[in-house]
Amino acid sequence: MTSDADFIRGLPKAELHLHIEGSLEPEQMFEFARRNKIALPFRTIEDVRAAYAFSNLQDFLDIYYQGAGALQTERDFHELAMAYFRRVAADGCRHVELFFDPQTHTGRGLPFSVAIDGLLSGMAEAEASLGVTSKLIMCFLRHLDEAAAFATLSAAEPYLDRIIAVGLDSSEVAHRPSKFAGAYKAAGERGLKRVAHAGEEGPPAYVWEALDILKVDRIDHGNRALEDLSLVERLARDGMTLTVCPLSNLKLCVVEDLKVHPIKRMLEFGLQATINSDDPAYFGGYLAENWILTAEAVHLSREHLIRLAKNSFTGSFLSPAEITTHLAAIDAYIASA
Ligand code: HPA
Ligand code: ZN
Repeated sequence: MTSDADFIRGLPKAELHLHIEGSLEPEQMFEFARRNKIALPFRTIEDVRAAYAFSNLQDFLDIYYQGAGALQTERDFHELAMAYFRRVAADGCRHVELFFDPQTHTGRGLPFSVAIDGLLSGMAEAEASLGVTSKLIMCFLRHLDEAAAFATLSAAEPYLDRIIAVGLDSSEVAHRPSKFAGAYKAAGERGLKRVAHAGEEGPPAYVWEALDILKVDRIDHGNRALEDLSLVERLARDGMTLTVCPLSNLKLCVVEDLKVHPIKRMLEFGLQATINSDDPAYFGGYLAENWILTAEAVHLSREHLIRLAKNSFTGSFLSPAEITTHLAAIDAYIASA
């Protein structure tokens, strides 16, 4: 029998929770800063890595927004995306639904088009050269106000046919989902799907709001939903996909130890949980590392791993025919593994 690590790397899977700005490796941060003549708040790559010790989400966000300052041109975003896709293609990833944070860039004076044009061209190249398909999710920064979210939706108007969904990220606790009720309604009216980070640090009430007020199609993270059994029942009944990020949870102290990570409990409750990397350059691993380290820590069986792989496609925004093709590829892989 193949080792779990080899089995996982070969298993066809999708990544549904990936902030592309969070795939900026320190080496690339320095390369872009040099090329763009930008001063970084770090002297060396070792200084950057040493700064990656976080006690909560905000600690991380402060560093993450600083790092994103190195991204200045369409070429930077294209290269950022391609570097990420090369890594996950080697992890057996066949499809990605990636987040980007336009306000992080427009807030620094970049035109809206710079990030999105660079990312879309990287996504097209990844599909052509690596066979990894992808869709783009535009996140609103929840620490900014709803008017800023509306302005972002307006700026995105020429691109709406190339954006699959809106998302909600950044500092959760002081910014509940209902703050964005109007912007999410407007996004839905424009034919966009809706996802939101909820229950990473925020309470179960925020997950309820994401479901009932934002009308989301997926919950990003959702860990704290397990504190409310009626919410667990609701999520299970709706077949709601949770995009769970184990190494992120460990680095941001959402869990104390990977050994007590709730992913197996989620599956055993009948929840449509998936494993994802969130911000892999900051949290110590890309997609395969998240799967391998978690499988080892909580003793996931082959059946659990297969369920997680299938959930990653059934929870995606691919068409039913595309999902069927990916599920058949998983079955063919299992038969041959
Ligand atoms: N949570 C909230 N905001 C984020 C994250 C996250 O895990 N990663 C990037 N922005
Ligand atoms: Zn996230």
